[in-house]
Amino acid sequence: MADAPKRTVTLTDDQNGQSWKLPVLDGTEGPSVIDIRKLYGETGYFTHDPGFTSTSSCESKITFIDGDKGILLHRGYPIDQLANKSDFLEVAYLLQYGELPNPTEKQDWVKHITYHTMVHEQLSSFFSGFRRDAHPMAIMCGVVGALSAFYHDSTDIHDPVQREVACHRLIAKMPTLAAMAYKYSIGQPFVYPQNNLSYAENFLYMCYSVPAEPYKINPVLAKAMDKIFILHADHEQNASTSTVRLASSSGANPFACIAAGITSLWGPAHGGANEAVLKMLMEIGSKDKIPEIVRRAKDKSDSFRLMGFGHRVYKNYDPRAKVMQETCREVLAELGIKNDPLLETAMELERVALQDDYFVQKKLYPNVDFYSGIILRAMGFPMSMFTVLFALARTAGWVSHWQEQFGEGGEQKIGRPRQLYTGATERDFVPVDKRK
Ligand code: SDX
Repeated sequence: MADAPKRTVTLTDDQNGQSWKLPVLDGTEGPSVIDIRKLYGETGYFTHDPGFTSTSSCESKITFIDGDKGILLHRGYPIDQLANKSDFLEVAYLLQYGELPNPTEKQDWVKHITYHTMVHEQLSSFFSGFRRDAHPMAIMCGVVGALSAFYHDSTDIHDPVQREVACHRLIAKMPTLAAMAYKYSIGQPFVYPQNNLSYAENFLYMCYSVPAEPYKINPVLAKAMDKIFILHADHEQNASTSTVRLASSSGANPFACIAAGITSLWGPAHGGANEAVLKMLMEIGSKDKIPEIVRRAKDKSDSFRLMGFGHRVYKNYDPRAKVMQETCREVLAELGIKNDPLLETAMELERVALQDDYFVQKKLYPNVDFYSGIILRAMGFPMSMFTVLFALARTAGWVSHWQEQFGEGGEQKIGRPRQLYTGATERDFVPVDKRK
């Protein structure tokens, strides 16, 4: 827990001169917070912050973001070091337990995850209920939620052992379900996971191998896939993580809570942006259309926004976007793709936007979604799978925040925001024959 408050701020009501002292809590990094837990009881006021632009919803030790400096730390480790020196399962361990695993811990962790990658055979029949052209994110919302109907031996949220098994199962089964959603959409048979493959290798194998011939893993693509998973693993209290925290605060089934996170991530303002970026780059087509696109993005009367640009927290370059751009070059080179038109368009769009006053003034920079779609498309994934991959990776973060909520005591308060009511005041019912 944060240290006891050492100082206060004073709130004064100019109407009646009343004032209240509110405790200030200091973290180890980033802004301090004004503790308003007793505000309503003491003042009769709520605070008002739609979109939570200035609100801390919880105390957390998992991820720190400095939006002004473009810094992202997972348990203190910078994202570029983790992306270039670690691997996804090791980062998933770090997010959950707070430290990098030693060799024995890592071996045990990888074994636990590996041996949970298969899904209950009956889950396969869930897929046949979907239309073949169903969006894979719609399928993922359904089948991940359906996990809550299967694993009753890991849903007692007050049992730390069961909570840990639920985390193992979710991290392990997301690639299998994601690959099944992809195979279902292209009418190919599901491919079972292989225990001798790494996490990223297994995912590529389940997506791209067919029973008719052996499948050769490309180590460069597997490494790039793993790095992309790392870059998407966690990001503080973003919309989908906050959704998971709020859903689980009622004590709901952990698998259903993760399904709620998937639902929130799907939106184009959040994880759905990677798919929207590629559609935008394809619609732009050629560099000479870029000035028009930038004009539209700046036009308040036009709902169009530059997808993959801007961020609630980053008012500087998203550090993940930098690593993503480097990975993009590595993958395109490995695949022998020279002068990829989409990459050329993206880089020119970035160049033009970052020289434009509107974007400079509003501190709008490329975010994690701006380059990811170019890589994923080059690797053979359809656009509709981009956000599924984001959800696959973000499960490591979601389950870490889910676990963190239980903290030492294992108890948690249900999240229940209030509101500013501006609706009708009390009035009597009018029978239908008396209404005008
Ligand atoms: C992710 O929260 C997370 O951490 C999310 C994420 C994660 O890892 O979990 O990082 C992943 O979701 C990245 C963001 C992906 N979304 C997009 O790329 C969609 C395009 N971006 C925008 O929709 C927007 O930037 C948001 C939603 C990301 C952030 O919106 P905010 O914080 O609510 O900011 P805002 O809408 O108040 O924008 C501030 C100003 C506005 O203009 P004014 O009203 O001040 O005149 O900047 C403008 C906006 O109109 N603006 C943009 C813009 N983004 C913001 N104008 C044009 N194009 C854009 N992309």
